[in-house]
Amino acid sequence: MDRLRIAGGRALRGAVTIAGAKNASLPALAAALLSEAPLTLRNLPAVADIGSMIGVIRALGAHVEQSDPHVAHIDAGTLLSQDAPYDTVRRMRASVLVLGPLLARFGRARVSLPGGCAIGARPVDLHIKALASLGAEIGIEGGLIVANAAGGLKGARIVLGSPSVGATETAMMAATRARGESEIINAAREPEVADLAECLIAMGARIEGAGTHRILIQGDTAFRAASHAIIPDRIEAGTYAIAAAITGGQLELTHARLEQMASVAEVLEATGVRIWPGDRGLIVEGGGGLRGVDITTEPYPGFPTDLQAQFMALMTQAEGAAMIRETVFENRFMHVPELQRLGANIALQGTSALVRGGGRLKGAEVMATDLRASVSLVLAALVAEGETVINRVYHLDRGYEQLDVKLRRCGAEVERLRG
Ligand code: UD1
Repeated sequence: MDRLRIAGGRALRGAVTIAGAKNASLPALAAALLSEAPLTLRNLPAVADIGSMIGVIRALGAHVEQSDPHVAHIDAGTLLSQDAPYDTVRRMRASVLVLGPLLARFGRARVSLPGGCAIGARPVDLHIKALASLGAEIGIEGGLIVANAAGGLKGARIVLGSPSVGATETAMMAATRARGESEIINAAREPEVADLAECLIAMGARIEGAGTHRILIQGDTAFRAASHAIIPDRIEAGTYAIAAAITGGQLELTHARLEQMASVAEVLEATGVRIWPGDRGLIVEGGGGLRGVDITTEPYPGFPTDLQAQFMALMTQAEGAAMIRETVFENRFMHVPELQRLGANIALQGTSALVRGGGRLKGAEVMATDLRASVSLVLAALVAEGETVINRVYHLDRGYEQLDVKLRRCGAEVERLRG
């Protein structure tokens, strides 16, 4: 298993190219299963999770060609299977996104309950309820989600109990092949949901309102060959913005879009970081002293849970205290004991963490536990005194394209230890 060795204390300077959004790419790859016609996806990030999802759709019989790691030509014209078994799905929770497309297209599907990051219980009940609203008979048998809709799905009003990103995507994809009109109420508003809608529209779907609480889908789509470019990754951009801030450097985040990151930019500016749009993306400058700012994670457009761990690392370096409340996932503080190993002063109380900033961090050996937790350790290591070794780097490789290479190009002292 690879490890990262980081020597802290360098201010990052330069440009970082922000990759395509992992969380928009995963549903787009699943959406390819809806159509008999080919789909080309561009601007995919070259990260392990994308490889896993391509593995899942290949196992179902889709032909996927990748002449370049950022482009996939997918032909799901002749799928062989509607069963996605445990060994293909276990690696990643987002594999459950193949359920809706398979069921909608074939009238049946069996998908193993997913694995993925160990952040809370992460049930799939909302996905199941949404598909049941569209007329599926659906239940769990022996660790599998088993779904049937022999006569096809029927358009319906789907009310989500909470605005789950994945359940919104499942419902939207399935509804494109249902008979008649569907409406999703209390839909997730994340930019990745809107991007999936753009992809589906390119494929022939008729969808309105994606990016708002109410999405309208006309079913019976006549699918056609399509090409779609994935939006930039706002979480990767936010992570590098924090890297600039925590090291007191300046980074240009090529392709990053301010409009996708308004709440993050607002919070970072409140800490004293400067952010402005440049010719090619966003420019982020730290260095003027950091102030403690309280945050609460929320569904979009609120502060994203996927940047909570990184922001916590930043707050260890701020003047004063910061209260960080996690409301999206119930067990997303696995980075806290590891940040404490580096010397951070953090008190955990239920779903809140009180960070008392201003202390010096000292390098140590730490363990990556999930994707965003691990990158928070990288950020902390960039300012820690001495050397930090981060174990289990495969978590980082799931969602960050060439993190060590990108950081090195901006002046960080980062080395990947193979093996
Ligand atoms: C997506 C993102 C993930 C991000 C999360 C929240 C992808 C591939 N992943 O995950 O990086 O952290 O959005 O922004 O896009 N829930 C249920 N029942 C369900 C589904 C979800 O109770 O059927 C709960 C979850 O346990 C969680 C909350 O709803 O507490 C939000 O989850 P959801 O928005 O579904 O996240 P994901 O789509 O899994």
